[in-house]
Amino acid sequence: MSQFAVETKNLGRTFKRKGREGPLRALDGVNLEIPPGELFGLLGPNGAGKTTLIKILTTLLYPTEGNAFVAGHDVVKRAGQVRPLINMVSGGEHAGYGILKVREQLWMFSQLYGVSTKIAMERIDELLPIFDLEEQAEEKVGKLSTGERQKMNLIRGFICDPKVFFLDEPTLGLDVHVAREIRQYIQKWVRERSDRTMLMTTHYMVEADEMCDRIAIIDQGKVIALDTPSALKSSLGRNAVFRIEVDGLETGDGVLADIPGVSKVAVTSEKETGLSRLDLVLESDAAISEVVVRITGKGGSIRSLAKDEPTLEDVFISLVGRGLGKDA
Ligand SMILES: Nc1ncnc2c1ncn2[C@@H]1O[C@H](COP(=O)(O)OP(=O)(O)OP(=O)(O)O)[C@@H](O)[C@H]1O
Ligand SMILES: [Mg+2]
Repeated sequence: MSQFAVETKNLGRTFKRKGREGPLRALDGVNLEIPPGELFGLLGPNGAGKTTLIKILTTLLYPTEGNAFVAGHDVVKRAGQVRPLINMVSGGEHAGYGILKVREQLWMFSQLYGVSTKIAMERIDELLPIFDLEEQAEEKVGKLSTGERQKMNLIRGFICDPKVFFLDEPTLGLDVHVAREIRQYIQKWVRERSDRTMLMTTHYMVEADEMCDRIAIIDQGKVIALDTPSALKSSLGRNAVFRIEVDGLETGDGVLADIPGVSKVAVTSEKETGLSRLDLVLESDAAISEVVVRITGKGGSIRSLAKDEPTLEDVFISLVGRGLGKDA
């Protein structure tokens, strides 16, 4: 039996694609060892394979290669043992019964997990105010806003007090302050007891950085880096990170890449405003002057230029040569 809360061995998942050339490898040889007590993050761009991995670990999807174990049990051969020990909540999900009231819905889900009514009610009363959802307790689920529904879904997961909790994009589309409360509660929940483990996915790098003990950066089905947030950032070593906002620069990522000392560039352009944001990883500060000369020479006018601390996005840029495509 695996001593890890989550363990995967060479895990893979291939999807057949109708009318296309080859099959799609959504997960490709993923090896993870997540000990009990860890808050572990999966960070990656759209389509990286994060949800696919969560689905396999929560017994909703079969892998096509390799093995996965949750709380010591094989997720394929022992799915029945895994299910009572886990819970999963994903951002933007619409599960639930619109005609039930929030409190009824939460109680109903607790019953599916065999929590006694007394304990379930205690937990519901404790959690509703923490998630600022007391006022909606007697409201029908169908009437909740997106954010309120997400908070209710999270409470649903916490009521059952899973051993291993999977959160897929828990703060997707939520207000800044709601997202902050949720992040804090998640951290408190994991820290409170040493036998609780959380695996969460996000493409908000700030979220991953702030919350997680360790992070796996995943791209095109592969884990391309795995470490603590600070170790990942310091892997950039003496490189300097600059952010530049430019007006009227009509070019792709290639425009600055050949300048000596420029390690990686990611460009995010806004069509409407014509503004481009450049995230640059340079070997040292010295390369910035040539970058400025090149931008102005190409007709771009610089709106702002700042040296910055490396973020996880910069780690991603330096590994794959493009941005995550999302900011937070
Ligand atoms: N049931 C399916 N059938 C075919 N292809 C699928 C299926 N589920 C996922 N995929 C493909 O597998 C790849 C990985 O998808 P996945 O949902 O795991 O990405 P993700 O990292 O969760 O992305 P996002 O950040 O957008 O949620 C994508 O290219 C997706 O189109
Ligand atoms: Mg996803």
